[in-house]
Amino acid sequence: MANNMRYFIGNWKMFGEPGSIGILNKINRFVKSDKKFNKKYKVIITPPHTLVQSYAKAFSKQKIIIGSQNCYHKDSFGAYTGAISPYMIKSVDAKYIIVGHSDNRSEGDTDEMLKNKVENSLKNKLKVVFCIGENSEHKKQKKTFEVLKKQLGNVLEKKFNPKDIIVAYEPIWSIGTGQIPQYDDLYKTVKFIKKILKSIFGNQSSAVLYGGSVDSENISQFSPLNEIDGFLIGGASKSDQNFVDIIKNYYK
Ligand code: PGA
Repeated sequence: MANNMRYFIGNWKMFGEPGSIGILNKINRFVKSDKKFNKKYKVIITPPHTLVQSYAKAFSKQKIIIGSQNCYHKDSFGAYTGAISPYMIKSVDAKYIIVGHSDNRSEGDTDEMLKNKVENSLKNKLKVVFCIGENSEHKKQKKTFEVLKKQLGNVLEKKFNPKDIIVAYEPIWSIGTGQIPQYDDLYKTVKFIKKILKSIFGNQSSAVLYGGSVDSENISQFSPLNEIDGFLIGGASKSDQNFVDIIKNYYK
């Protein structure tokens, strides 16, 4: 069973309006009453940009932490219609940011843009949840390790502090599909990712999460995998009951 700090990160994607704060109140209430919280795990929720400021304010003295999803690749202010920079996200008190999600990669995020996003986010003291993952074609052609190595090596640099980065391994074929990797494959892949991270950061690794169709039913399959430092949870994070059950069942 888990010894190290675990992360349960909820990625709301394009979901949420001001009233959705009720979901977070319930999750917060649960973690407040759970003795394992903070000693064994942290909870971070990333609502859309429209809600970051009000939610970050509401939970500033509470247990759960508010993060954000994606940002523009340039920082500060500029003539970029519709864009939101890491500086602006930090100014409304987000603590974390998801960068490199396959949703954003598929809309044109290049490695160069992702490197800028990571660098500018770190510069603004946002902790980065950096997503990587192979698609089903890569998997079929047994190119998973090659793809992951490139995704990591092209963006992460030795000068970044590995403690400010969390890597989320999210196979694209598993996001929102109900399919999860085989236990052995996942074990080998997470080990491989940690090895690459050590080669980048000089024998230090970042935390490595798994993401893709995690729910309250399948979470117990991940509990014995000590190498996994937590989970990035999409669909199931939009329900307080599902999210809380994921945490409960992980530690059962
Ligand atoms: P999912 O999404 O849990 O709905 O598969 C995970 C993610 O995209 O981060």
